[in-house]
Amino acid sequence: MSSYSIPEEVIRRIREQADIVEVVSQHLLLKKTGQNYTGLCPFHHEKTPSFVVSPARQIFHCFGCGAGGNVYHFLTKTEGLTFPEAVRALGEKVGIKIPTVKRSPPNPEAEKEQARLYELNQAAVQWYHKNLLERPEARTARAYLAQRGIQTETIEAFCLGYALPSWDGLLKKMTEKGCSPFLLEKAGLVSAREQQAGFYDRFRDRILFPIWNLSGQVIGLGGRVLDEALPKYLNSPETPIYIKGRSLYAMEKARHEIARAGCVIIVEGYFDAIALHQAGVKNVVATLGTALTPFHLQMIRRFAREVILIFDPDQAGINATLRTIDLFLVSGMTARVVSLPSGQDPDNFVRNHGTEGFLTAVRQAKKPMDYALEQFMAQTGVSGIDQKLRVAEQILPLLSKMENRMEQSHYLKKLSDELKVKEADLAHELKKLSEKGPRTAIKSMQPVTGPTPVPKEEEILLHLLLHGKLSLERVAEVLTPEDFSDVRLKRIVRLALDCFQKSASQEGLSSLIHSELIQPEDAAFSIGVEPAWVGL
Ligand code: UTP
Ligand code: MN
Repeated sequence: MSSYSIPEEVIRRIREQADIVEVVSQHLLLKKTGQNYTGLCPFHHEKTPSFVVSPARQIFHCFGCGAGGNVYHFLTKTEGLTFPEAVRALGEKVGIKIPTVKRSPPNPEAEKEQARLYELNQAAVQWYHKNLLERPEARTARAYLAQRGIQTETIEAFCLGYALPSWDGLLKKMTEKGCSPFLLEKAGLVSAREQQAGFYDRFRDRILFPIWNLSGQVIGLGGRVLDEALPKYLNSPETPIYIKGRSLYAMEKARHEIARAGCVIIVEGYFDAIALHQAGVKNVVATLGTALTPFHLQMIRRFAREVILIFDPDQAGINATLRTIDLFLVSGMTARVVSLPSGQDPDNFVRNHGTEGFLTAVRQAKKPMDYALEQFMAQTGVSGIDQKLRVAEQILPLLSKMENRMEQSHYLKKLSDELKVKEADLAHELKKLSEKGPRTAIKSMQPVTGPTPVPKEEEILLHLLLHGKLSLERVAEVLTPEDFSDVRLKRIVRLALDCFQKSASQEGLSSLIHSELIQPEDAAFSIGVEPAWVGL
């Protein structure tokens, strides 16, 4: 994991040392045209080249899709690397070593324990995987996977495993090696007995799906029964290293393809993700039994602008999709929703219709508002006034969150057509909502008279961030602007994270903060941030 901050000076030297033409050439065919090079843009589909690389300015720009930037931006986009990862990768290529100042862990004990939890999960996964491949008791599990069309290469790639039916297989194996059962319990691999002392294996007679974080560390497991027994899935509990609302299944495998395509497909189940990867659709991740959260979107934003949602066409899936639409309206990302025929999930759909059939369904994905309108109308009906009111009640709050006025009025018109009610009446209701919503938000953004005290921890955190003592990457992993109570800090942190997600460097950050944020009433200086940070 790169939890280090890289000195700005080094970032610049590596950039200057590398040749963008050479780097880009490794990804696409470039042709010299005058002083520049041109080629087919890797970020959108095109038949005539509109992608230009300037050796003189060491930048690229696509006149087709508008993508552009320096060599780091190119690497983050094509290889799905975070900004620091791109710097490191390029640094290695051009032979510039990155001096690393290890950040001193805020809590060395907790950090040590986390490292142990990763190790334990890793060891368990290896054991389970070997069981699946080799043990005679795993024959049924192997047959089950084969019957579901999961190929051996896929089992290997996803390191699928099998937990033997025994109550203490893993427990014995690990404690023999000197591992504390209490730590195993903390890792979610064993549970404490209720009536007596001792522990037992959490996973028994289940097919196991290891879950990795972006750095390729195992953080947990999902386990499926081989028959109709319940619960169908038993998963790792949340642990210090596994937070479901911040993790996505298969993300570490999909990241490159997500970055290349600029698009991520989100499905609900382990099997869906695996089946699609196996079918060659590799920009797919799955949620882990929770709703999609802002943290998920934040992680995705590092790699993609577009999200395609394919939740199961059952009521739970539909509701999950509808709940998620909200999130996208304010995320700045484009979302599309695929509705599969009822009774089908991505896994069996791709098996029945093949990769091409699946991609066709993806191309027919709907805009979230169209999907929402369709679903709400189907659920409620539109025959009487009560039903119409109900549909409007559900749709208008979503409309009020739409940032684009044109899009908003498009849907207002559509809603009025569908419900056969006057557009003006809907607009009136919408206005009432909008007055309630954003108005309060704006109010809370107003500078308060006199400096309000900023919580000490937040102040320290910001200070460390702005002084480069804490990397944006690290902060982006664990915090969102909403974690800050002070409005001004929220705005600064939002800017910082935004900057980070756009792979801008800290130099970009300070100028951004400068130009967009610092107004006299912000009094950022009064919270202990000295002018020095501006020069970071
Ligand atoms: P599904 O029931 O759609 O599972 O639940 P699936 O992955 O498609 O599996 P198959 O095809 O029926 O074998 C979707 C996801 O919801 C979570 C799991 O993450 C699962 O992949 N889930 C489901 C649970 O955590 N527990 C459950 O009991 C069921
Ligand atoms: Mn399924």
